[in-house]
Amino acid sequence: MPSDQQSGTESSGPRHVAIIMDGNGRWAQARGRPRLFGHHAGAKRVREVVEACPSLGIKYLTIFAFSTENWKRTQVEVAGLMSLFRRYIAKETRALHARGVRVRFIGDRVRLDTKLIALMDTLEEQTRENEGVHLTIALNYGGRDEVARATRRLARDVAEGRLKPEEVDEETLPRYLDTRVLPDPDLVIRTSGEARISNFLLWQSAYSEYEFIDTLWPDFTADELARLCQSYGSRDRRFGAVKA
Ligand code: FPP
Repeated sequence: MPSDQQSGTESSGPRHVAIIMDGNGRWAQARGRPRLFGHHAGAKRVREVVEACPSLGIKYLTIFAFSTENWKRTQVEVAGLMSLFRRYIAKETRALHARGVRVRFIGDRVRLDTKLIALMDTLEEQTRENEGVHLTIALNYGGRDEVARATRRLARDVAEGRLKPEEVDEETLPRYLDTRVLPDPDLVIRTSGEARISNFLLWQSAYSEYEFIDTLWPDFTADELARLCQSYGSRDRRFGAVKA
């Protein structure tokens, strides 16, 4: 599994971009519309951003669609979001596959409905051989929950003799995370002016660069992503070391 050092490009742009897509609700409220209107507008932006990735040299795109904390929203909003995810997957499968996108989902599936899980499985299966952009959608995802689930699996392996306690280190643990086949993100972007990471990719973003921008997610464009990638290129990533 590649480490963040390996994923950090020697060339200018980020190879793995992760996005906390925030601000849909405020975007809708500013227009006097229900929050779900903002989520639908946000879903349209996902397509534009995925399409922009190849020309920006982004090989991995990971987006935070629904957190383990988002169940605390009203029943109407949660049901509306789940329905949006089902529709998005059903509608976008063909286009994503045609563009060579490989789709994965991370997060805990236990609370998701069976219809949605079936659609997720189909999309993953259909795009399994694709070699274009790796799109990872975090759905019912929480960084702490992921580490807890990973630790549970790891503990089982130790208990059953497949792993020795002294073998558990920084290389071993990430093999149990949902993201085990992905490099760590080089750049994490959060829209809507909030400067926090809200339980997103806690382990994986230890050395990521961060961009907190004011744009609300439904207003985010490919041009803005290009600007952020360019600005990333001028940063000096040292991973804790001192420059020679
Ligand atoms: C945060 O905005 C956004 C979400 C909780 C949902 C993100 C979902 C989408 C962008 C929809 C499409 C995604 C896919 C993969 C189809 P918020 O509601 O917290 O906004 P607020 O902070 O302004 O209230």
